[in-house]
Amino acid sequence: MIDTTQLAEPGSPEEMLLRRIDFERMPRHLAVIMDGNGRWARGRGLPRVEGHRAGVKSVREIVETAARLELEVLTLYAFSVENWKRPRFEVWTLMNLLKDYLYRELQTLLDNDIRLRVIGRWRELDNSVVKALEVALEATEHCQGMCFNIALNYSGRCEIEDACRRIVADWAVGKQVDIDPETIGRYLYTAGQPDPDLLIRTSGEMRLSNFLLWQIAYSEIWVTPTNWPDFRRPHLYQAIVDFQTRDRRFGGVKTDSNDLLTAKRQR
Ligand code: IPE
Ligand code: IPE
Ligand code: MG
Repeated sequence: MIDTTQLAEPGSPEEMLLRRIDFERMPRHLAVIMDGNGRWARGRGLPRVEGHRAGVKSVREIVETAARLELEVLTLYAFSVENWKRPRFEVWTLMNLLKDYLYRELQTLLDNDIRLRVIGRWRELDNSVVKALEVALEATEHCQGMCFNIALNYSGRCEIEDACRRIVADWAVGKQVDIDPETIGRYLYTAGQPDPDLLIRTSGEMRLSNFLLWQIAYSEIWVTPTNWPDFRRPHLYQAIVDFQTRDRRFGGVKTDSNDLLTAKRQR
């Protein structure tokens, strides 16, 4: 049973939104493209890195809230393979913010029984970042609650490429590996996890930017103009409320009473 008392201020607008959520129909996996940190900063006459610093507060709030909502998986896109094109100082700041986050938030992850998983070519990151990630991964390994995937040095195309390489390597040692969607899924970084039901992108961009290309085949997409540093619990609740109004057909048809009547008439 979800304890809603920790999820909204009593009498607040966010509580009204929270009440509209049907806890029986929650997304199992929520994925987020956290975008707009730079624009948030520019709008305030600040350097881009201040947007990233402010964005960490949103990460804290959304991770904790998602765990309290008892989601199975939360995936946050934190750094793409393409983000290396950015100025060195910006990349350096992002890596330091990540290390700082892991150090400061480890106890919160443990308190909320959150298990960390890193997706992407994260072992290619700076040694100090890899070490910090390994510490957090090991410390949260026993956690049974929400799985928090953090996508680092991530690219959807590279993920598929890495899966192909591992399939070929298994073939080479004589393992019987079929090529079908289920098998490919088992070779992805997200192996064993359900595909995202809901994909949120902040800051209004209508693109995927190489995120979870395989897994989002049937995800519902929700884009908000809000920049990531301004994204808080009410935005998340609104996204879930909207998600619950969607008619997910997965290529089929909805059999409502009108369809049945038409079908009867045609017979
Ligand atoms: C998202 O914000 C953070 C990362 C990609 C790491 P941006 O830095 O992309 O912000 P904008 O899109 O330039 O506003
Ligand atoms: C996507 O945002 C990557 C992350 C959120 C980490 P970008 O800001 O890098 O994407 P583009 O360049 O606008 O497509
Ligand atoms: Mg961006």
